[in-house]
Amino acid sequence: MEYFLSAANKVIDRCRLLAGFTEEPGGITRKFLSPPMHAVHDEVGSWMKNAGMEVSTDAAGNLRGIFRSDKPSAPRLFIGSHLDTVPNAGAFDGILGVVIGVALVELLEGRRLPFHLEVVGFSEEEGVRFGVPFLGSLALVGHFSEELLDHRDLGGITVREAIQSYGLDPEKIGEAEAGPDAMGYVEFHIEQGPVLESLKVPLSVVETIVGQSRLDVLFEGKANHAGTTPMNLRQDALAGAAEWIGAVEREACATNGLVATVGRLEVRPGAGNVIPESAQASLDVRHAYDSIRKNAVSGLLELAEEIAERRDLTVTAELRVDQAAVPMDRQGTSALEAAAIATGHRPNRMNSGAGHDAMILARRMPAAMLFLRSPGGISHHPEEAVLVEDVAAALQVGLKFLEQLEASHAR
Ligand code: HGY
Ligand code: MN
Ligand code: MN
Repeated sequence: MEYFLSAANKVIDRCRLLAGFTEEPGGITRKFLSPPMHAVHDEVGSWMKNAGMEVSTDAAGNLRGIFRSDKPSAPRLFIGSHLDTVPNAGAFDGILGVVIGVALVELLEGRRLPFHLEVVGFSEEEGVRFGVPFLGSLALVGHFSEELLDHRDLGGITVREAIQSYGLDPEKIGEAEAGPDAMGYVEFHIEQGPVLESLKVPLSVVETIVGQSRLDVLFEGKANHAGTTPMNLRQDALAGAAEWIGAVEREACATNGLVATVGRLEVRPGAGNVIPESAQASLDVRHAYDSIRKNAVSGLLELAEEIAERRDLTVTAELRVDQAAVPMDRQGTSALEAAAIATGHRPNRMNSGAGHDAMILARRMPAAMLFLRSPGGISHHPEEAVLVEDVAAALQVGLKFLEQLEASHAR
C-alpha cells in the first residue's frame, strides 16, 4: 500500500498545483478555454508526455493523451473527467479524474496493454461560461451541434470566438469525435456529497447519474420610485421571483428524492431605491426518475405563471438543459466493483446527484464511474477535499481494473 500512498500523494499535490491556475487569484475559477487553461494543458500535457503518451488538444479544447497499445488495431479505453471548474471551486472536482488517469498510466511503468488507453481532460463540463454544460464531451461523442458555437457568454463572446482565441479551429470540431475503436469510458470522481463519509466507506460505484433540468426564469414588472410608489400599485419583479423561489424550495422538500436550486439571480436595474423591473432566476432540478423531474419543472413553471398574474408581472422560461437520467454500464460497473473487492475495498453502490461527463460518453460507449469519499460532504467549495488513503485505494482499484481488462483480452 506504501507504493500506492506515494502515488496518491503525488496525485493530490498535482491537483493542488493545478488549482493555482485560476482566473481569480485567491480562489479556483477556470471556465471554458479561459487563459489559465493553457497552463493546465501545458502542465498536464508534460506529465502525459513523460508517461509515454502522445498528447494533443482537440478543437473543442479537450486535452487528449494516448498511451498506445503495441497492437495498432487495438480497441481504445477512455479515462477522464473535466478540467473546468465552477467559480470559487474546490481543487478536485473533475481534475482528480484526469490526474488519476495519468497516474494509472505512470503505474503501468511502460507496460503496454492490449488496448489503447486515452486520458481525456474535458474542456467544459460545468456549463458556467456559456450556460451549456458538457461542450467537451459532446464533441468527443460527435454530438456537438453547430448552434452551440453561437452561444454567448456574459461578455458577448461566442463559443466559436472562444475556441478561436484559444488558438483552435472550431471548423475542426468534428475531428474530436471518438472513432469506432472506442471500447469504453471510466471516470474517477469525488462523490461531492455526504453519503460515503456517513457510511465510513472510501469508494462507491455509480449505478445511475440522475437527470437534470436547467432553466432561466425571467420575471418582468415595472421599475418605479421606491419612495413614492404605494405597495398596492407596484409591479415588483424581484418580490414576485422571491415568492416563487420560496415555493421552489417547499416543492422540493415535499417531493422524495427531488432537489431544486436557484443558484443565480440577476436583478435590474439593481438600485436600492428603484423597484426592480426584472429578476432572472436560474433553476436546477434533479431526480433519478425523469417523469418526476419533468413534472416538478412543469409544476414550478405553472406556479411562476400564477404568481406573475397575481402581481401583474410577466414570466418567461428558457430551458437550457434537459438531460435524462443515465444508468451506468452494468458490465463496466461490475468490473470496477470486482476490482475493488479484489483489492480489499468493498465499494458502496449509489446514484450520482451530480452530473458528469460519463452521462454524455454513455451515448457512445459503455461508461462506468468510481466515486471517492468527500470529507465533510462538501464540493463546489474551496473546502472540497479527498483523503490520500482513498486516492491510494482508487489507484489500486483502477490498476486492478486495467489488469482484469488486460487478462480478458489475452483469453
Ligand atoms: O452540477 C453538476 O452536476 C456538476 O458538478 N457539473
Ligand atoms: Mn462540478
Ligand atoms: Mn465534476
